[in-house]
Amino acid sequence: MKKCEQLYEGKAKKVFATEDPNLCIVDYKDDATAFNGQKKGTIVGKGVVNNRMSNCMFQLLEKQGVDTHFVEELSDRETVVKKVEIVPLEVIIRNISAGSFAKRFGVEEGIEFAQPTIEFSYKNDDLGDPLINDYHALALNLATQEEIDTIKKMAFKVNEVMKEYFKQLNVILVDFKLEFGKTPDGKIILADEISPDTCRFWDADTKEKLDKDRFRRDMGGVEEAYAEMMKRIGL
Ligand code: TMP
Repeated sequence: MKKCEQLYEGKAKKVFATEDPNLCIVDYKDDATAFNGQKKGTIVGKGVVNNRMSNCMFQLLEKQGVDTHFVEELSDRETVVKKVEIVPLEVIIRNISAGSFAKRFGVEEGIEFAQPTIEFSYKNDDLGDPLINDYHALALNLATQEEIDTIKKMAFKVNEVMKEYFKQLNVILVDFKLEFGKTPDGKIILADEISPDTCRFWDADTKEKLDKDRFRRDMGGVEEAYAEMMKRIGL
């Protein structure tokens, strides 16, 4: 499988067409942004971590019955995925208060919820990915009610699988963001990536941050945190 024309370049990945109209190749970059692209930098080796870790998560989820876009890892940074139309919703699941939740509701970080929360952001950089509810998503024709119900069910299932998995690695899965895609035959599958860019990971003992918050918050030790996650996963 080889790359044909570039279809898209995002903040962290490039997407290429292939000879097969149903497949694409994703190429993960080391570029890092935060706050809707206002903060820019490089996390050396991030593309490799995010590619390999995402693929590992997608394969774990597939085994647990979650359909994903994963097809085949081609190299350290490149993966063949199913071509989908991305549903323009960022789906965020939280197990513990942190980040924008803590800020919005004026609570400290680190409060464990009795049950996970779900929220959607409208994937629109010009608007700064605003928070959106089901009714807004329907009004804007971003998805159907049936698709939203499927997405919620799949997102909570992903949380159950990943929470257990990371627990074994002495890592707390604080929160994460998912994106879903629609195949040409209308099926909703998990797409995008699952990585330290898109999840908050805390060491279970020390509560040390092992994710992109180290970059967002200028904490240093960013590459080391990504490498530590790779080590714990066994990659
Ligand atoms: P938040 O607390 O800033 O809303 O972030 C919630 C989770 O979503 C966190 O794990 C980081 C992830 N996330 C992304 O993957 N992309 C984004 O653009 C943002 C803002 C958050």
